Order: sequence, then structure tokens, then C-alpha cells
Amino acid sequence: MSKAFKPATKLSLDDLNKNIIDAEYAIRGPIPTKAEELEFQLNTSAVNKDLPFNNVVYASIGNPQQLDQKPLTFSRQVISILQYPDLIKQREVLISSGLYNDDAFDRANRLFSQIGKSIGAYSGTQGIYGIRETVARFISKRDGFPSDPNDIFLTDGASKAATYLLSILCQNKSTGVLIPIPQYPLYTASITMYNATMLPYYLDEETNWSTNAEEIEKTVVESIANGVIPRVIVVINPGNPTGAVLSFDTIAKIFKIAAKYGIVVLADEVYQNNIYYKDVEFHSMKKVLRTLQRDHQGYENVQLASLHSTSKGVFGECGQRGGYMEITGFTDEVRQVITKLASISICSVVTGQALVDLMVDPPQPGEDSYELDKNERLTIHNNMKERGFLLYETFSKLEGIQCQKPQGAMYLFPALLLPQKALEEAKRLNLLPDEFYCLRLLETTGICTVPGSGFGQAEGTWHVRTTFLAPGTQWIKDWETFHKRFYDQYRD
Ligand SMILES: Cc1ncc(COP(=O)(O)O)c(C=O)c1O
Repeated sequence: MSKAFKPATKLSLDDLNKNIIDAEYAIRGPIPTKAEELEFQLNTSAVNKDLPFNNVVYASIGNPQQLDQKPLTFSRQVISILQYPDLIKQREVLISSGLYNDDAFDRANRLFSQIGKSIGAYSGTQGIYGIRETVARFISKRDGFPSDPNDIFLTDGASKAATYLLSILCQNKSTGVLIPIPQYPLYTASITMYNATMLPYYLDEETNWSTNAEEIEKTVVESIANGVIPRVIVVINPGNPTGAVLSFDTIAKIFKIAAKYGIVVLADEVYQNNIYYKDVEFHSMKKVLRTLQRDHQGYENVQLASLHSTSKGVFGECGQRGGYMEITGFTDEVRQVITKLASISICSVVTGQALVDLMVDPPQPGEDSYELDKNERLTIHNNMKERGFLLYETFSKLEGIQCQKPQGAMYLFPALLLPQKALEEAKRLNLLPDEFYCLRLLETTGICTVPGSGFGQAEGTWHVRTTFLAPGTQWIKDWETFHKRFYDQYRD
């Protein structure tokens, strides 16, 4: 007689990888999840629509095209031809109808010659060589120092590149990863997933979120004394969520520490084109490193990985997952491991690769699309700048909120000076004070933001992170009205 068969129980969380369970990514955390529920409620007739607002404003994520930013015409013309090559047979008709520009066909043909038969085929692991050559030319021109296509990896956005590197470099809890606080939560989440130790270095809010090299070195020395080897330093420039842009000197000081202690530098430069003021300049970490190597001894062993993405800038093509990583100074054996890891995912999305080409090589003067493309880029850039400034000015007038002027990126990270009564109410609801503020803001106005606690903040301070991408100005007025009422309600 066979024994009675008892079906196996379902998996519980105890059966899963604890590091993944513990990883947190606030940008898709409880407040944005709540926002999606409210949006569903607004859009679904069967559910009670009784909410004090008509739409949800996603100021929680740097996702420009979700917020009505139009894709650049030239890029989409080229991508559409790559996706549907039969359009080439209709080239003359499409040009004379005004739907396509001539140079879009030229670019698509050039890309076809580099991609091979179809954009639907896998590419080599590092990405299409011709596109990597174009990226290397862009970097050489930007920095005034040569770049080699063999050092470029085309990746699914910058996120994939960051996780490749961190997964390789994090051995166990004795690997330390220096990250700025506040930071973009990809980094805290990855450190948790790869079971390494987070080594926070705090940015100075009072001086517009500046980076203090002495503070970094102090953290490094303490960490070594505690048996944790600082292996990587993450630098986000321009900063998310702070909008701060690093000076040449500050970057040079970071490299001095990297050279002294043998720390790999991971430069997240996805906002390099989001700079809003003439007196603020973006210096790539690659350029600073090459300058130091040219002018000084002691920097030859520094290892750098620089990331860029098609998701930001004026491109905003977040969903297409284009990006690249340039690696500098790694040994051949380490490069081979990076390549092997990338090969396990076969290749990055090939449309994303084509978009990288379009990002780094826009239409030039004299080409058909030049004027339109230039104007579209300028309009998007100016809109962001104006909205960022309006939001900053609005916050600057309000009681109980302190905001630094954004130099770059797409975000503001104002401090909330919350009254005691609001702190008590948050506690009663079992929420952190900044979560409480963001939840109230969402439930009252439909504006979805992310609490500062998701990015890290100095102890005892509370912040809110907002993008300045949402169109129009009404949401900014709504936020102002909400904030004043909130303060009136909870003022001590
Ligand atoms: C600093 C930073 N790095 C990386 C990313 C991820 O970008 P991607 O879409 O290229 O993966 C973001 C997205 O917001 C970001 O803010």
C-alpha cells in the first residue's frame, strides 16, 4: 500500500533569498504603489471615485515620457525605420509627405550596416562595434582624451551596468561600498542584494549638498579599522536626489583617495546633460582621471567605470533601456569576468543600443533634421529648467521647508521641518514623519513623491524627493496650498 500523498506546501518567504527580500527600492515603494491604486480608482468606473483630485501626478520618478515629454522626432524616425525596414522602399514618398527627413534614412542605413541583418537579432555581448565606436568618439570629444570602443559596454540602461559591476566586486560582508547619502536607491538595494557592507558618506546639505573628501577618507579609515575593505566608491554626478554638480577639484580629491586606498570608482553620470546654469559645468570623472594621470604620478592603477543612459538628458527614453559603461584601468582578467557576466544575459536590447548612437551623435548643422532636433532639445531643456526653478522658488517661500537650488538632474530634495504635532501624528500612524507628509500630499492632491527616508538622510532630518518633470504649474500651486494647510493643521 502506498503512503497517503501529501501535497508539498507552497513556498514561504523563508524559502527565498533573504538578500533580495531585504533589498528596498523606495521609488517603487509604498507611496508610489498607493498612487497606482488611487489612479486605478479614478480610472475604473466600478470603483468609488470620490477623491479630492482628478488625476495622479507622478513626481516620484524621473520618467519624462510618462509626463508628456515628447520623444525627439529624429530618433523616433530612425528607430521606426530600423523596426520596419520596408519603410526604406517608400523613402521618397515618406520624405515628400513631410513625415520623415532624408537624414533619418541615412542614419538608419548606417546603423543597419553596423547592426547587420535585423534589429531583432542578438548582438555581440558588449554591443554593436560600430555604435561603440560612435560612443568612443563622443567621449573623446567631450573629454579631450581618447576613448577606446573596446572599453565600452552597451547596457540595458545604466542600472544594468551598475549591477554588473557591484555583483562582481562585492564578495561578502567584508566588502565595503561607499555611497553618498542621500543616494539613488539602486545602490543601497544592490549592496543588500550582493550582501556587502554599505559605507555611507554624507553630503553636506548646508553647502548645496556638496561632497566632502575628508568625510570620505574618514569613513575609509574607520572601515578598514573595522575589518571592512572599501572596494568601490559610488559617485553620482549630477546628483540624484540632490541635483548637486561636482567641481573638478572635488572629483580630483575623490581620485586621490581612490588611488591611495585602491578603491574602484563607479561614476554614475546619467544626468550629465541636465545642467541648468552657465556657471555650473559638468566634468566627467574620466576627464579628471586622465588629467591627473597626465599631470601627476600615482594614479596609474585607478580603476573607473563610467555610466550613461538614454533615460535622462532631453532624451527621456527610459522604457527603451539604452545605456553604456566605459571601463578604464581594469586588468584583462577582470575585464574578462565583466564580459562573461554580460554574456550570460547575451546582449543588451538592440533598439536601446541604436538609441545610444542617436544620443551621442545627434544631427549636425547642414543635415535636414538639425534645426528641428536642436529646437526640440532646447525646448525640453528649458522647460525642465523653468519648472525646476519655479518649484524651488515656491518651496523657498513656504514655512517649514528648506530647499537647495538645483544645479542639475531632475529633482529637488527639500528638507521638511515638521512641527511636533505632525511628528506625533506620524508616530501614532506608525509611519516615518516624511512618509506621513508624502502620504498626506498624495491623498489630498494626487501628487506622488518619495519620502527622503528612501534615499537616506542625516539622522533626525526629513525630506521629500520630487521630480520637476510634471507638465503645467497647477500641481505646484496645489502642493503650495496643501503645504500651507498641513502646517496650519499641525503648527505647534
Ligand atoms: C542616478 C541614477 N542612476 C541610474 C538610474 C537608472 O537609469 P537607467 O534607466 O539608465 O537604468 C537612475 C534613474 O533614475 C538614476 O537616477
